[in-house]
Amino acid sequence: MKLKLFFTPAGINDDQITGKTSVVIDILRATSVAAVALHNGAREIIPMATLGDATSLKQKLDHSSVLLGGEREGQKVEGFDLGNSPFEYGSSVVENKSIILASTNGSAALIRAGEAEHCLSCSFINVSAILDRVLELQADAAIICAGNKGGFSLEDALCGGMLLERLRSADPDIKLDNDASWVALEMYEKHKHNLEAALRDSDHGKFLISLGFGQDIAFCAREDSIPICPFWRSGRLIIEE
Ligand code: MLT
Repeated sequence: MKLKLFFTPAGINDDQITGKTSVVIDILRATSVAAVALHNGAREIIPMATLGDATSLKQKLDHSSVLLGGEREGQKVEGFDLGNSPFEYGSSVVENKSIILASTNGSAALIRAGEAEHCLSCSFINVSAILDRVLELQADAAIICAGNKGGFSLEDALCGGMLLERLRSADPDIKLDNDASWVALEMYEKHKHNLEAALRDSDHGKFLISLGFGQDIAFCAREDSIPICPFWRSGRLIIEE
């Protein structure tokens, strides 16, 4: 199996995902929120790239069973039901609901990666469940960091590095197939004993702390606290067929 890692979705060609597994990572905070919401009983997460698309979809669906979540500049959007903090997605709020998620980077990355044969949503809190599924699928995989507005995000690269390290330990025949995958692996080696500190020191980590979301960072750095594998089916993330 060959693995390529991408620091942003921008440079991905169709060839790099067609017929392959894609794994999307947006640690702070879209893929962490997706795991929490699905674990707490949400029926599905429907990512939408724009606020307008998200709002019009909510109008078309049954209002009583749909919540609009996401952020712009880290903050809840006016008129939305929820922001993008995992603490807002408790079971009393999300159980049996469809969540339309319009986050700045994560939603677009999921929509693009959803074009792969199989697409999985990964974060530190569910990394081992994703690892098991990638190994089961035995297809070449593109690990796609959502990044930040077209740029690099340390927290996504560190989770990509963790996934690569664990996949290689589980199957020594796995090959890292691009430069970015080696760089992510080295970055992970450097920070692996203090991931939360690295997240707090990252650009988006510092930004979220400045907005008062420091507790989200500790939560999103907690490895394997929610062992589920959200996967893409017809424009949405679900955990069961
Ligand atoms: C994103 O999709 O850009 C994020 O998850 C941003 C955030 O939650 O602050």
